[in-house]
Amino acid sequence: MQTAADVLRQRLGTAAPDVAVLLGSGWGPLAGRLEEAVSVPYTDLPGFPSLAVGGHAGTLSVGRLTPPGQASPTPVRVAVLAGRKHAYETGQPDGMKGAIQALAAWGVKALVQTNAAGSLEAHMPPGALMLIEDHINLVQASPLVGLEGDDRFVDMSAAYCPVLRAQALALAAQAGATLHRGVYAWVLGPQFETPAEIRMLKVLGANAVGMSTVPETILARHAGLRVLALSMMTNMAAGLSDETLSHAHTMHTAQGAAERAVDLLCSVLAKLEI
Ligand code: HPA
Repeated sequence: MQTAADVLRQRLGTAAPDVAVLLGSGWGPLAGRLEEAVSVPYTDLPGFPSLAVGGHAGTLSVGRLTPPGQASPTPVRVAVLAGRKHAYETGQPDGMKGAIQALAAWGVKALVQTNAAGSLEAHMPPGALMLIEDHINLVQASPLVGLEGDDRFVDMSAAYCPVLRAQALALAAQAGATLHRGVYAWVLGPQFETPAEIRMLKVLGANAVGMSTVPETILARHAGLRVLALSMMTNMAAGLSDETLSHAHTMHTAQGAAERAVDLLCSVLAKLEI
């Protein structure tokens, strides 16, 4: 039987791009910035998740990005995954396991994750961008449960690659963009948090809270991929502003902030040295 990595080699080339970007809520416009894009739907990739949300099946595309201020695309190919299976959909944290293992088998070296998050910090209002330096797996669930072998005991002490983080900060500064740094706490959702939960997260050392990313970071580290992750603040977390939290509201903020976020991401991806 053909594996997803076989299909990727056949349809997108035997040489995998070094970087795959997993798009989170609000970061969709990055896919539209790909030039000479070739796409494969997740439905053609064994082990990739089936996604029902919004009638969108999920797509893996490969192409080249043109950073802001440049006339032509960089020679660097990147893979962009539009569509993520969240743990809150099934209760299982391993929805992206097949996809991430296939990327590694194809030859991808780094996973760049993006997400939408609630901010715990007054200096990171909605629209602000945060580089994830570390995470708190508050759910205490693992996508590696059930695997065998010593390599399941993954070292998470530098889960978000320090070298890639330093490059991302320098490249953001070069591009004149503000990129905050902080700790991301993973909650299961799909409900938002209570104000008491947010006060607890603050005590625990979190700067942002969200419902994704952590399982994929664990999977990527297990598969030997380096990880870089960016959060877009779409709202102040529960109890920190007078707003009522809703998905529609966070998506509306994300749309407003997306172009600037995607500009920053393109500037970083164009020069990231893997
Ligand atoms: N909490 C959890 N996940 C989120 C939030 C939030 O406030 N905003 C966007 N994703």
